[in-house]
Amino acid sequence: MTWKVLLTDGLEENGKEILRAKAQVTDQPGITAEELLKVAGEYDAIIVRGRTKVIPAVFDAAANLKVVGRAGVGVDNIDLAAAKSHNVTVVNSPIATTLAVAELAIGLMFAVAREIPRADAGMKNTKWLKKELEGIELNGKTLGVIGFGRIGVATAQRAAAMGMKIIAFDPQLSASEITSRGGEPVMLDDLFARSDFITLHTPLTNDTRGIINAASFAKMKDGVRIICAARGGVIDEAALLDALNSGKVAAAGLDVFATEPPGESALASHPRVVATPHIGAQTVEAQVRAAADIATEVLAALNGETLRWRVA
Ligand SMILES: NC(=O)c1ccc[n+]([C@@H]2O[C@H](COP(=O)([O-])OP(=O)(O)OC[C@H]3O[C@@H](n4cnc5c(N)ncnc54)[C@H](O)[C@@H]3O)[C@@H](O)[C@H]2O)c1
Repeated sequence: MTWKVLLTDGLEENGKEILRAKAQVTDQPGITAEELLKVAGEYDAIIVRGRTKVIPAVFDAAANLKVVGRAGVGVDNIDLAAAKSHNVTVVNSPIATTLAVAELAIGLMFAVAREIPRADAGMKNTKWLKKELEGIELNGKTLGVIGFGRIGVATAQRAAAMGMKIIAFDPQLSASEITSRGGEPVMLDDLFARSDFITLHTPLTNDTRGIINAASFAKMKDGVRIICAARGGVIDEAALLDALNSGKVAAAGLDVFATEPPGESALASHPRVVATPHIGAQTVEAQVRAAADIATEVLAALNGETLRWRVA
């Protein structure tokens, strides 16, 4: 049986090669929502990244669909309830992008601690901002990690190597699990009160939406720095903007936004925000790993083999 697989957000060549050995592959990067509804019925599997929204109407339209694959980790663009009710398996490639996102989180920490983007912008504008640019060191600071899974732990390990003290909040892990992963387990309010830097690494769920909000900022140290390479919705953006403007938050490093791209955004253009366009997973190595992992996993799902990363 030759399976028919649709790629809607592109895939690295190595992943396509793995698929082509066992399936007929159609590559339609950038396909619109309307076009997807028209063609979905032809395919046994659809592989997406974060752009394509696999909404209930797609499942309704896709009579032959057996598998949706997400090259990457976050599956908030796939309606898992609709997948279940249509008996469609959902798989992702969760380990491929861990290091890329962790390294970006560390990069954003340095960027906000030393204002590297502002320094560079000055140089490009013949401004020597040496006196204005007195930063802080990461060494000796407390890093509060919200969500102590793969990326949270990888970020924490790198931060610990730079001399940071790691405290972590993750209600789905026991205290001993957090300790064994290298963090001091704390309650959320304790994390807010003690952290010099806070980095978020949770999925976006009903529990994590707005987990950082106006009330949380009130509990934080003055001059706290916030890093987010998780999902835009986990921070209440209006509250973050207020906290930046009041000086409560010294700086923020943001890779993700509630709406992407955010367009004219007071937050992204704020002078004490370092903003990046959701590039956490955008490394050569991560994309090659994600392509291989998702291609293998989708074929395994189509062939009824054991799955490593079944989400639904
Ligand atoms: N910026 C990017 O490009 C990019 C790329 C990949 C992943 N991500 C984001 O990073 C997230 C984490 O990825 P991961 O591989 O580490 O996932 P993971 O599942 O290994 O870790 C997530 C952790 O969050 C914890 N968690 C869940 N609800 C929580 C809550 N209410 N409070 C605190 N912790 C909670 C879970 O227990 C888990 O340990 C993804 O869900 C995705 O949203 C972003």
